[in-house]
Amino acid sequence: MPALVLLGAQWGDEGKGKATDLLGGSVDYVVRYQGGNNAGHTVVVGDQKYALHLLPSGILSPSCTPVIGNGVVVDPAVLLSELSGLNERGVDTSKLLISGNAHLITPYHQTVDKVTERFLGKRKIGTTGRGIGPAYADKINRVGIRVQDLFDESILIQKVEAALNDKNQILVKLFNRRAISAEQVVEEYLGYAEQIRDYVADTTLILNNAIDEGKVVLFEGGQGTLLDVDHGTYPFVTSSNPTAGGACTGAGVGPTKISRVIGILKAYTTRVGAGPFPTELFDADGEALRTIGGERGVTTGRDRRCGWFDAVIARYATRVNGLTDFFLTKLDVLTGWEQIPVCVAYEIDGRRVEELPYSQTDFHHAKPIYENLPGWSEDITKAKTFADLPKNAQGYVRALEQMSGAPISAIGVGPGRDETIQVNSFL
Ligand code: GDP
Ligand code: IMO
Ligand code: MG
Repeated sequence: MPALVLLGAQWGDEGKGKATDLLGGSVDYVVRYQGGNNAGHTVVVGDQKYALHLLPSGILSPSCTPVIGNGVVVDPAVLLSELSGLNERGVDTSKLLISGNAHLITPYHQTVDKVTERFLGKRKIGTTGRGIGPAYADKINRVGIRVQDLFDESILIQKVEAALNDKNQILVKLFNRRAISAEQVVEEYLGYAEQIRDYVADTTLILNNAIDEGKVVLFEGGQGTLLDVDHGTYPFVTSSNPTAGGACTGAGVGPTKISRVIGILKAYTTRVGAGPFPTELFDADGEALRTIGGERGVTTGRDRRCGWFDAVIARYATRVNGLTDFFLTKLDVLTGWEQIPVCVAYEIDGRRVEELPYSQTDFHHAKPIYENLPGWSEDITKAKTFADLPKNAQGYVRALEQMSGAPISAIGVGPGRDETIQVNSFL
């Protein structure tokens, strides 16, 4: 069972960091394959809490080699500060590998991200402002700067100048901002080169060899299925492919090598930023989920929008990712509700719809059709086996599993490493 993908099944923040960290001790490589420091992954180890943005969550497991794949966009300033922050806390980061083909986020990407959002006004996406979209746009436009370009000064100068050609015109003439100096960017980025050089490697070769040797490789998604640029709620999405196929392109590993795809699924639903969200709650229940679940963004500190579980979305995640398993997180947060509504289908313009509509207009009009499941009041945070859960909590899990189309193989009952019920092994 050598290669697994672990990804978000909803709109991100499902608990991917915790799930990856949990497996970290038994895997050889943990690979980020897309996204950048827009991610915010929380890992709680004993009484220590870590917030990771760019680095794979496997970095906290000493036996594991963390890898930043070619599909990731890397902000070198963030990379170095995250590494030194971990080093100060005694975490050894020396095994990190970074693909030379990964693209770099530069200060001009962040500027363009922020001014574009401002320009969109009410239609804004609510991005994290980290320059993610503009960095991916440059990659697709073939004017991106890659990690390997840091090691060739004349190429770096040429590429930064080329990338700034049109951007400076747009910044000055359209957005009324100051032009960005190519020399300044080059000087800053050359300064990163030596600090990063030792981490840079041919990661696709290393990962394919590792899989062939029977090593265990875990691909850790950032964001989530509904934030995927192809399969998510476009345009309210991120600019990469968090879905399972992204692991292949973003790490250079063929689909025949992937043996298991695990969807991380919150026992209710949250979303950060703008865009449709059929089960969103604007009442005391929404506030209670936010408070009890600690639903505040790790990256931007924004309150997360909260709502009930949406089985239509979970089924969709099973389909577009080919999920083999779910890891259900935050079941403990639902303790105390007498009845727990679960969205089983949508009503769209008077019709009952069981699958996620492909039409954006339809999705904007989707109203949830709820089924109430009986709740429980017993504390479940100490549960170690499925049988330890109260009958109604077991029923809730079984009902979600039946509606969502893949087995629930693990259940999170608290943020800590140990607060997990393993139903089926992932390895
Ligand atoms: P990620 O982006 O998918 O890694 O998720 P985040 O770290 O942004 O948000 C998930 C939050 O839920 C973090 O604060 C985790 O510590 C916490 N968490 C993860 N699993 C559980 C769980 O089973 N129960 C509770 N109460 N908290 C959890
Ligand atoms: P993790 O990995 C939740 C959202 C932003 C915005 C949209 C586009 O912690 O689950 P971007 O900066 O990527 O261009 O913003 O995507 N977003 C996330 N929401 N969790 C994340 O990451 C996110 N990363 C981006 O809020 O709506
Ligand atoms: Mg997060």
